[in-house]
Amino acid sequence: PPLHTILNSRDFEEVASRTLDAKTWAFYSSAATDCVTRDANKSLFERLWFRPRLFRNVRDVSAKTRMLGREIGLPLFVSPAAMAKMVNPEGEKGIAKGCVDAGVPQCISTNASYPIEEIVPCAPKSHPFFFQLYVNKDRSKSETLLKHVRSLGVDAIFVTIDAPVPGKREADERVRADESLATPMSGAKATNDKKGGGLGRVMASYIDPAFTWEDLPWLKRCWKGKIVVKGVQSAADARRCAEEGVDGIVLSNHGGRNLDTSPPTLMMLLECHRLCPEIFSKLEVYVDGGIRRGTDILKCLCLGATAVGLGRPFLYALNYGQKGVEHCIDILRDELETSMRLIGITDLSQVRPGLVNTAAVDHL
Ligand code: FNR
Repeated sequence: PPLHTILNSRDFEEVASRTLDAKTWAFYSSAATDCVTRDANKSLFERLWFRPRLFRNVRDVSAKTRMLGREIGLPLFVSPAAMAKMVNPEGEKGIAKGCVDAGVPQCISTNASYPIEEIVPCAPKSHPFFFQLYVNKDRSKSETLLKHVRSLGVDAIFVTIDAPVPGKREADERVRADESLATPMSGAKATNDKKGGGLGRVMASYIDPAFTWEDLPWLKRCWKGKIVVKGVQSAADARRCAEEGVDGIVLSNHGGRNLDTSPPTLMMLLECHRLCPEIFSKLEVYVDGGIRRGTDILKCLCLGATAVGLGRPFLYALNYGQKGVEHCIDILRDELETSMRLIGITDLSQVRPGLVNTAAVDHL
């Protein structure tokens, strides 16, 4: 269907489910075991209500904000995702180009299908990129990679902690992998083995499951830029991140792809509000997982998030190349600005917890 008939991120997903080859659909859409967390990430947003404050002038609205010290066009970023080339040959380069006009940052995965030096030049120098790091069992490889990333002008990394081992993704195991698939920055190659062709599993074997809090000083020695910890899932770990002096955290369960029945991301955000409210003034809090609508974004911001990440929606939009990514961002901007006006705010400095009613989820 033509792009102008796509009205929301669900439409992109529906088209992807019908048009992607079986392996790409399995890899992108799948999650761990029964996919409970993947689905709950999304559905929990339906149980949080707004508390609009109206009868205000909402003619002019701006959804610009700041993230990690830089101005960004919208309070969202592209979450890091492996192998975007599977959906479209433009891959991560198409995502980069599609983000430029809107000023939306892209976090490039260690498992990207293009090396970072081919992605970053797709946007002007001022465009914000982040790099997602999976720490290699051979630490010297990570050190070399980080030096390379820094030399390209990238000043923030997201280090992923929720995937010391890959989750059990059955849909992905069931479909054979194309053994020519590779991720240039990690040196991983797809294979099929006795367990099947699960890309999440076979491409992750270089990741160090023994990377711990005690390694943070090592990371700070080899990366002088900003550090964001991605995959925090409890108030206790969020507090520890604040104590360790990192610049930000992503409350994330990897889109439900690793530990099934780990809490939906909105629940984690509410838990941080209750149990460690002090962290919000010490570091930036981001949320990713299940965010599909402007209202989802706005709810997270009201509860203290600085920005949110979206993973699958951008992969499905990339089905239409750069233009699809642009269209996806336009839709999200329109939805966000509309819902800002409808709760009675015109600028993101006005978001606050009082604008949402958490009664239905307070007992969770
Ligand atoms: C991911 N995610 C991910 N995260 C990460 O830190 N490094 C990675 O390489 C990948 N790869 C990856 C591939 C695919 C196909 C998906 C769908 C996801 C997780 C991603 O960054 C993010 O946390 C989730 O995608 C957010 O959930 P939604 O928006 O997809 O619901």
